[in-house]
Amino acid sequence: MKIGILTGGGDCPGLNAVIRAVVRKGIFHYNDQFVGFLEGWRGVQENMMRPLDMEAVAGILPRGGTILRSSRTNPAKKERGLEQCIENLNNNGIEALVVLGGDDTQSVSQKLFEGGVKVVAVPKTIDNDLSGTDFCFGFDTAVMIATEAIDRVHTTAEAHNRVIVVEVMGRDSGWIAIYSGIAGGADVILIPERPFDIDDVADVLKHRHDRGRFFSVVVVAEGAKMARGTGSGSLVTETDQVDDFGHVRLGGIGNMLAREIEQRTGFETRAVVLGHIQRGGSPTAFDRMLATRYGVGAIDLVHEGKFGNMVVLRGNAIQSIPIIEAISKTSYVSQELIDVALSLQDRRGEERGGLKAAPHQR
Ligand code: F6P
Repeated sequence: MKIGILTGGGDCPGLNAVIRAVVRKGIFHYNDQFVGFLEGWRGVQENMMRPLDMEAVAGILPRGGTILRSSRTNPAKKERGLEQCIENLNNNGIEALVVLGGDDTQSVSQKLFEGGVKVVAVPKTIDNDLSGTDFCFGFDTAVMIATEAIDRVHTTAEAHNRVIVVEVMGRDSGWIAIYSGIAGGADVILIPERPFDIDDVADVLKHRHDRGRFFSVVVVAEGAKMARGTGSGSLVTETDQVDDFGHVRLGGIGNMLAREIEQRTGFETRAVVLGHIQRGGSPTAFDRMLATRYGVGAIDLVHEGKFGNMVVLRGNAIQSIPIIEAISKTSYVSQELIDVALSLQDRRGEERGGLKAAPHQR
């Protein structure tokens, strides 16, 4: 079969490992031929391709980024964009398409599938918020990077009696924040699922300092929102610009929080924004494994004729679900994980309601 592969949306470590697994199993077991479309859907729409043979995928297993490059191009937003994609796929004799992407990229897969294209999807999002799968590759690497950063700011915060706020990725859900926050022993973890009150955050930190701990670490997901006061309920953004899928560029909550904490507590506070460091570099062994299993699963789905489906991880098994199911909901941090984080906070002696009392949003 002649099969196309593309990587769309924000990159994450493990994309190359998926590509390698699809190509190797496809060539070794099914005698397939592959082409890679460059820069996500842009490559399909504008006919930008490269051959993907054994030589092309040699040595890419541990490499971050994607050899096919990526973009947030949305053909559904362009006039005749989807038609152009279908025409190009047909003209190039592409019999099936393997799409690595998150909910935005896969919303295009679903539209093309409905238009007759034989698509198989692989879940990809550093935020780990794609529904239907327990984990996306790249998430473990991001958590490891964030945890190491938290460990590092711990020692310098302690040395200077400071509060350090660490801003991590997480637009709609706080998976990276809660995992790295718990693993790194953060004192406060703020996630989009639970709008927070800055006074309560300040209270928790003051209480900790009253107990003789003179430094604190706060982890905040970039998409966390305030429950009350000016700007409550709104995302903190860098610009008003939106991408092709209507998402605004997030950024700034860490610095905003640091200012507010310092003002309320009098504790010297600094902010660190991890940003794209979380998405860069080599994937962990866990992510290489997961990416490889997804790649093998995806090419098997193609040859089983299960188009319109996405490979997913359920427990420790690779399964598949309809793409439409995966993109119709966001996966949020569970109440159980939030309870774990809260149960490690010292709330003795006083009713420090804010963090605990705020209802889980979802
Ligand atoms: O969607 C994944 C994500 O990493 C978000 O956490 C983040 O807000 C966004 O992408 C950053 O996008 P870009 O790489 O376009 O700046």
